[in-house]
Amino acid sequence: MWSGNDTMLDVLVQPEVIPRVSKFLHERHVNYEIVISDLQRAIEQENPTLSAEEMEELEGRKGHRMEWSSYHRLEDIHGYLDYLAETFPELCSVMSIGNSVEGRPLKVLRISNGKANVPALWIDGGIHAREWISPAVVTYVINHLVENSEDLEADYYILPVVNPDGYEYTFRGDRLWRKNRSSPEKGGVCIGVDLNRNFGYRWGGLGTSKQPCREIFAGTAPFSEPETRAIRNFFEASAANFKAYLTFHSYGQYILYPWGYDRRVPPDYADLERVGRQAAQAMKIAGGAASVYTVGNSATTLYAASGGADDWAKAILKIKYTYTIELRDTGKHGFVLPAQYIVPTAKEALAAIDVVVQASKL
Ligand code: ARG
Ligand code: ZN
Repeated sequence: MWSGNDTMLDVLVQPEVIPRVSKFLHERHVNYEIVISDLQRAIEQENPTLSAEEMEELEGRKGHRMEWSSYHRLEDIHGYLDYLAETFPELCSVMSIGNSVEGRPLKVLRISNGKANVPALWIDGGIHAREWISPAVVTYVINHLVENSEDLEADYYILPVVNPDGYEYTFRGDRLWRKNRSSPEKGGVCIGVDLNRNFGYRWGGLGTSKQPCREIFAGTAPFSEPETRAIRNFFEASAANFKAYLTFHSYGQYILYPWGYDRRVPPDYADLERVGRQAAQAMKIAGGAASVYTVGNSATTLYAASGGADDWAKAILKIKYTYTIELRDTGKHGFVLPAQYIVPTAKEALAAIDVVVQASKL
C-alpha cells in the first residue's frame, strides 16, 4: 500500500497478479485505474543524475555538489551542510545529534542571524526513506534561508535526513524502502523500524504493528531506534524557544496536525486549523492549480497512526505549531516524483513555512 484514506487507496501490485486483483475488485464493484503501468520505467526516469564532469564543475564553482534539478545522495546533502557551516560561520552551524543504526551522522543545521527574541522552528525531512522529495525540498529551504539571511525572523534547526541509512538504501538497494535499517531481533529476518511509529507518545496504538516485517513496525519499544532517540535527546538538551515543528513527507498534498493516534484533536486545534488553512492558501498562491493542499487532523484526514514525531512534539514537547506536511503529488507519480518537480514543490513549501513563522511570532 502506497497511500490511502477512507475513500481511496494507491496499491502497488506485481504484474503476475494483475488479473487476480482486477477480478477481485470487479466482483466487489470497486472502481480502479492503473496510474503507473511500469514502475521500473518510472524509477529509471525520475532522476536524471548529473555526470561526473558536471558534478566536478559544480563543486569547483560552488564549493559543494548540491543543486535542485536532481535528487542527491546523502554525501552531497551532508557536504552541503558542512560547506554552509564553513562558509557562513556567523549564520550557520552544523552539529551531529547522534548516529543512525549503521553509524551515519544525523546532521542538524542551525541557521540564525542573531536577532534576539525570535521563535525557534524545527524542520525535518527524510524520516521515510523513499520520500525523496522531502530532503530535496528541505535542502532547498535551507538554500533560500541562507540566501535571504537578513530577513530571517526565526532561528531554524533543520535535519534534512532523519533516516540516512534508509535513504542511502533507496539508491543502492530498493527504491521503495520506507523504514530505517535496524537489524532483526534474534531469530527474525525482517529489517527496519518505521521511525514515524517509534516516538514515545501513544506508542504501539492504532496504525502500528508489532510485526517486524510490516512497513508500519513500531519497533520493540518507544525510542528503540538511535534516530528517534537522537531527536529526543536534542530537544531535551536544547534551550531554544521552539514554536513550530514541521516534518516533511510525501505524498498526497496534506497539511496535517495532531492527533495521529486517533481522531481526537488537541485543545488548541482551532489555531492549528486556521494557520494550516492560511498555509494552504499561501501554497496555492505560490504554485497555482497544482498546489492544492488539504488541511486537517492527521487521523481523520489520512488515517490513524500512533507514535509519530508530530504527536510527540505536540504532547510531550508542547510545541504549538506542529504539522506533518505531505508534499507532492496526489498520486500520479507518488513516491517516484520526477526531479523537475523539486523546485515548484519547494517554492510552495517555503510559502507554508513563512505562514508558520508569522504565526509563531505572535
Ligand atoms: N504518512 C505519514 C505516516 O504514515 C503520516 C503521519 C501523520 N502523523 C501521525 N501521527 N499519524 O507516517
Ligand atoms: Zn512518510
